[in-house]
Amino acid sequence: MSGTGTEVGKTVVAAAIARTLAIEGRRVAVFKPAVTGLDDPGEPDHALLRRAAGSTQADEEIAPYRYGPPASPHLAAALAGERIDPGRLRTTAAEAGARAEALVCEGVGGLLVPLAPGYLVRDLAVDIGLPLAIAASPGLGTINHTLLTVEAARGAGLEVSLVVLTPWPDDPGEIERSNRETIAELAGVRPVTLPPLDLRDPDSWPALRAPARS
Ligand SMILES: Nc1ncnc2c1ncn2[C@@H]1O[C@H](COP(=O)(O)OP(=O)(O)OP(=O)(O)O)[C@@H](O)[C@H]1O
Ligand SMILES: [Mg+2]
Repeated sequence: MSGTGTEVGKTVVAAAIARTLAIEGRRVAVFKPAVTGLDDPGEPDHALLRRAAGSTQADEEIAPYRYGPPASPHLAAALAGERIDPGRLRTTAAEAGARAEALVCEGVGGLLVPLAPGYLVRDLAVDIGLPLAIAASPGLGTINHTLLTVEAARGAGLEVSLVVLTPWPDDPGEIERSNRETIAELAGVRPVTLPPLDLRDPDSWPALRAPARS
């Protein structure tokens, strides 16, 4: 699970996917390599993911690196006098997946965000090897951001299984509807849409799955 950047709805989309799998009866684990911004108020990503998945994982089993400042992960780690260890990320994700029937991972920022020297979020996505969902905004600017992300993913051999436009307005305008069609045409994946959700109540969320391939 990645996105076109930061604050585009990755956590919401990952949580909706995790919820859908849990409702289907699967034991779901969640993973996020690093969470930053714990100094800010609000529910942190790993907590929303855990709640949506109905998981009992401890914080460190979901997100092995957690930092207070709202900085990119390599900088937040440096400010704490640490370095993110890619091997620890791979091990934590593998252990989470081994104890569950489905694993949903959220990236950090976009695909080209560095986690450690010489190791990007995209490298971790390749190492984990799951099909990729991309969260994107429905509005102006999203065509370029989404196509860049799809190209960066495919360039590394990742399979883009899903593009999700979120939050999709109840009454979409010309721009939103046209963006969806344009991305479908140019990316070769028809975006699905996710309406505004009440994040307090995962039971009220609609199912979110990759569309069947034609
Ligand atoms: N479908 C939706 N329903 C409700 N809120 C949404 C929806 N999509 C996005 N949002 C809102 O947009 C904001 C960003 O979403 P989210 O936290 O999922 O982004 P992110 O890409 O995970 O951010 P980060 O880079 O910090 O991890 C949040 O305030 C979230 O509540
Ligand atoms: Mg997030």
